Amino acid sequence: MSLAHSPAAFTIRPAGPPDLPAWLALRMAFWPEDSEAAHREQMADILGDADQAALLLFQDGGRLCGFAEVTIHPRAIGCETHRVGYLEGWFVEEGLRRCGHGRRLVEEAERWAASRGAREMASDTQLDNGISRAAHARLGYEEVQALVHFRKRLRSD
Ligand SMILES: CC(C)(COP(=O)(O)OP(=O)(O)OC[C@H]1O[C@@H](n2cnc3c(N)ncnc32)[C@H](O)[C@@H]1OP(=O)(O)O)[C@@H](O)C(=O)NCCC(=O)NCCS
Repeated sequence: MSLAHSPAAFTIRPAGPPDLPAWLALRMAFWPEDSEAAHREQMADILGDADQAALLLFQDGGRLCGFAEVTIHPRAIGCETHRVGYLEGWFVEEGLRRCGHGRRLVEEAERWAASRGAREMASDTQLDNGISRAAHARLGYEEVQALVHFRKRLRSD
């Protein structure tokens, strides 16, 4: 690992309003299917809700290069408790992967959830996201169920 990639050169802290432009850019890279307006609405929700947080990873205290978004859910599939910490999003910039940053982000998300009364964490990913499934497993997450989601538009008349 080069010095530039060593954990000491990186910090993690919760997002605040000044982070919006950089956080938006990273979110749009991770969830390109959502519109900018939808991202802005979701980010405003996170900043305005004590049961949601975005933990941001900065290189040398300045450049945003990853995030973990975490919320508190009243329940989650496979979990036995209420107020479950839920990993909603988890992203590390491509060139910085496999250096331990993803693990630090999740550990920070777990600390945040525990500090709000959660005793379990839950998460989800696409079935074909093998990297995410492997990384979740390495961080101690067990696979509990695979789901297919459906939708149907209702007539308005
Ligand atoms: C998933 C992701 C955030 C992991 O970030 P990262 O910085 O590479 O994670 P780390 O280096 O801390 O690795 C965490 C663990 O996962 C394992 N891991 C990471 N990438 C892996 C891969 N490609 N294959 C197998 N295991 C992997 C690591 O070995 C590590 O376990 P260890 O500490 O016991 O060795 C990153 O790959 C990413 O941003 N992917 C694209 C977005 C995405 O799919 N997010 C998850 C959707 S829920």
